[in-house]
Amino acid sequence: ADVAVRATAIVDANAALEGPLLPILHDLQDEFGCVPEEAVPVIANRLNLSRAEVHGVVSFYPDFHHSPSGRHVLKVCRAEACQSMGGEKIADRVRSALGIDWHETTPDGAVTLEPVYCLGLCSCAPAAMLDGEVTGRLDETRLAPLLDEARR
Ligand code: FES
Repeated sequence: ADVAVRATAIVDANAALEGPLLPILHDLQDEFGCVPEEAVPVIANRLNLSRAEVHGVVSFYPDFHHSPSGRHVLKVCRAEACQSMGGEKIADRVRSALGIDWHETTPDGAVTLEPVYCLGLCSCAPAAMLDGEVTGRLDETRLAPLLDEARR
């Protein structure tokens, strides 16, 4: 309830602006470190949008997330060169090892998983990036220490 109350205050403070949606999302992100799910119906009501439209905008802009980012951010490449080198299998392994899906954060706040579309490391596909550091030629052996580091 507290989240909804604070979210409502933010929505009301911006509602009179022209094009209020982005300022609202920015303020929510600043306040909560994310755009809480609870805020979506509040925004939709006040701005006369559907929930799907609000969700669409949140997922379109990389700045906005429905949950706060973890201490680490693991990005797994899903573009063509990596896919053709078994990237989807690596992605599946990562998701099941961490127990989360794309754009989610592990419950302990350790790691957020994001898809990425080419890391410029196609010649060493499949590739991933942990906290800005890229690793290529990912296989089970190279994935294990990466996941260990991400979980810390
Ligand atoms: Fe994955 Fe280029 S396609 S690094």
